[in-house]
Amino acid sequence: MLLGMTTAPPTDLSTLAAIAAQMTHGGRGILAADESIKTMSLRLEEAGVPASETARRDYRELLLTAPGLSEPVSGIILADETFGQQLSDGRAVPDAAHELGILPGIKVDTGTSPLPGQGGALITEGLDGLGARLASYAERGAAFAKWRAVFDVNTADEYSAQANGAALARYAALCQEHGIVPIVEPEVLCTGDHDLAASDKTTRLALAALFDALGAAGVDLAGIVLKPNFITPGLGAAPASAADVAAATFSALSDNVPAAVPGIAFLSGGHTTDDACAFLGALNAIEGRPWPVTFSFGRALVSDALNTWHGETQKVTAAQDRLLANCNQAAAAAR
Ligand code: 13P
Repeated sequence: MLLGMTTAPPTDLSTLAAIAAQMTHGGRGILAADESIKTMSLRLEEAGVPASETARRDYRELLLTAPGLSEPVSGIILADETFGQQLSDGRAVPDAAHELGILPGIKVDTGTSPLPGQGGALITEGLDGLGARLASYAERGAAFAKWRAVFDVNTADEYSAQANGAALARYAALCQEHGIVPIVEPEVLCTGDHDLAASDKTTRLALAALFDALGAAGVDLAGIVLKPNFITPGLGAAPASAADVAAATFSALSDNVPAAVPGIAFLSGGHTTDDACAFLGALNAIEGRPWPVTFSFGRALVSDALNTWHGETQKVTAAQDRLLANCNQAAAAAR
């Protein structure tokens, strides 16, 4: 009977788990370059570069094609505009990413709006028509997706945690149905002057509601990547040491994140490159973690490159060098 039997093709789940591992294991991390057209245009203008579709493309091309980027970086999160663009050599951006050894991902939420009657707490939107969009992204090469829920320590409560957890869970289940690894991102903002305990409380609230909702939605935890914030005081308050940040973050994650989650990739949240890398390094040094930890930073990786570039062709190499230095610093913290 065994004669002639062939090895079964990998199930969707084993494919998802393999992609999640590729994204987060081995000391590589994720470059978040998925700013919306509005945010990216603002950042370009702030850096002295007139914003346009071409300028946004040129900037993302500079990032993606930095020589050797695939050594510290496993994946890049793209915005819809970039995902549909071509590099100056004519290659579709997702195809070029694959060729460069970097998995292309796509931000699929459409941003936040206030939850009615909730004192300013936010809900992330974008579920309508998401299945069809994911099918199209998958066909064009997306390996993973991202959805970001946003919590402010002053307005988050049980209701907003549950509402955002439910949205993240529906998004994650849909991604898995389309063979795409969902990055689930419950971000507790670090703007403000709150203390570490406030961040800790809100992060725990958000994580507990998220994992309840993921369970109820039947999401396979082996095929997701969690993207949380570090637990820190607000940027306007006295800073905590990297050791204290790592201890608080590890404790909250241990209490809420099952060991089945294959990898955790942190956002930088407005912290400097050095601080975000110090937090990651201190967390990585804690023994007995069930999940690998790495980075999925945006600003902490790219701000220096953007400010170096100035939209000038002759500064592309210098800007790429700044990007690579920051990515290598983050990867070293994850190793
Ligand atoms: P920052 O690291 O700049 O916070 O961005 C990461 C990200 O993707 C937020 O959604």
